[in-house]
Amino acid sequence: MGNMVATVQSSFLPYIENSGISVFDENNPFPSTRYQGSKNKLTCWIWDNIKDLDFETALDAFGGTGSVSHLLKRKGKQVFYNDILEFNYIIGKALIENDSTKLSDEDIDLLLSENKNKQNFIQKTFKGIYYTDEENACLDNIICNINCLNDEYKKAIAFFALFQSCIIKRPYNLFHRANLYIRLADVKRSFGNKITWDKSFENYFRHFVKEANNAIFYNGSKCRSYNRDALDLDINDIDLVYLDTPYISNKGVGTNYLDFYHFLEGLADYENW
Ligand SMILES: C[S@@+](CC[C@H](N)C(=O)[O-])C[C@H]1O[C@@H](n2cnc3c(N)ncnc32)[C@H](O)[C@@H]1O
Repeated sequence: MGNMVATVQSSFLPYIENSGISVFDENNPFPSTRYQGSKNKLTCWIWDNIKDLDFETALDAFGGTGSVSHLLKRKGKQVFYNDILEFNYIIGKALIENDSTKLSDEDIDLLLSENKNKQNFIQKTFKGIYYTDEENACLDNIICNINCLNDEYKKAIAFFALFQSCIIKRPYNLFHRANLYIRLADVKRSFGNKITWDKSFENYFRHFVKEANNAIFYNGSKCRSYNRDALDLDINDIDLVYLDTPYISNKGVGTNYLDFYHFLEGLADYENW
């Protein structure tokens, strides 16, 4: 079978911020995620357009949240997920490559318990930038607990939950500006975001672990997550290649995902931040 390439014409799509509502009512719904360019709301449309193609293996070369990989996994395909950012690769491990490991309630309690050996890198480096002092201390604590886990998939699920918790508590769901003041300003508000921003990390962490646990299943073939520049991928014998590159503005400038999500990339490699 020759390669088939499926692309989404990003420039024709409106900006999509994921509401988290999975369009597939199946047993293992994709978790709620907020990410620039996520195609979670389009998975029905994407499937409609590729379902008649004859393919068993698929490469999602610019995987992002993994929403399209997860769709293909739910449809029984052998999926190869890839993203250049390490935090996304970890999400790919948690939701795509992982086919059975989940986090128990005891694991979650342990991850949220106080770690006497925790470091204070986030408290020192990001004071007043993205989160409150108390929240920064909480992040330093959880990340130290996550790094004590031995099981790579448990670790990946915990990271997934931490990343989503960090995103949901940020104005615009991004890290491109030091705008904690938007959250903390004592002003009259006509929108409900402040309630979302101010819920605790603990609350969100528990919530997102549950969502990730529900998304994990085995579809009969071994799926894999990769962390490469798409141009350097050397995976052979793929039937279908799905390409969803960063958006390019009409000035020719591509979205810089590291600018938007550097904080998560730092969390993914805390010891070397
Ligand atoms: C439009 S997003 C993909 C969204 C994804 N389809 C989803 O539903 O979440 C583009 C992704 O490409 C990744 N990326 C950017 N340059 C890359 C490269 N050279 N190789 C692999 N991935 C890259 C970014 O980190 C980003 O996650």
